[in-house]
Amino acid sequence: MRQTIRFYLGEDLCTLRDVSPTLTLLDWLRERGRTGTKEGCNEGDCGACTVLVVRLEDGWLNWRAVNACIQFVSMLDGAQVYTIEDLGTPDAPHPVQSAMVEQHGSQCGFCTPGFVMSMAAYRKTEGASADDQAIDDALAGNLCRCTGYAPIV
Ligand code: FES
Ligand code: FES
Repeated sequence: MRQTIRFYLGEDLCTLRDVSPTLTLLDWLRERGRTGTKEGCNEGDCGACTVLVVRLEDGWLNWRAVNACIQFVSMLDGAQVYTIEDLGTPDAPHPVQSAMVEQHGSQCGFCTPGFVMSMAAYRKTEGASADDQAIDDALAGNLCRCTGYAPIV
């Protein structure tokens, strides 16, 4: 039986047929040139590959930060996926991107797209606060090896 998957990548509707059940979103994105989503550990531990996955749940849009390296494309039917390329531009950065620049939250930059996507998802979370502990929890899945976490938080 042929299987068809439909989801949005940014504002573009993607219709895929006969997707391998082992194809990860990370591999699919990078093969399409969306290389802002980084490959680090490739096993869900570092957060470099974080993207936003939006789903309608109970009449409400639920925004989640998801590790693309452990997200199978075949499970995205009905979702909308945003990558770092969808978030802002050099002339019109997302507020999280602006804050990362202003607070010196990036050095080598490898982890930065993942942190930005996690924080962008957190901003969409009902009841999100600027409380340090809540932010630490929201960023618990993202690792940075050079900046240190204080400027990022
Ligand atoms: S590459 Fe490390 S969590 Fe995906
Ligand atoms: S800025 Fe280099 S790993 Fe975070």
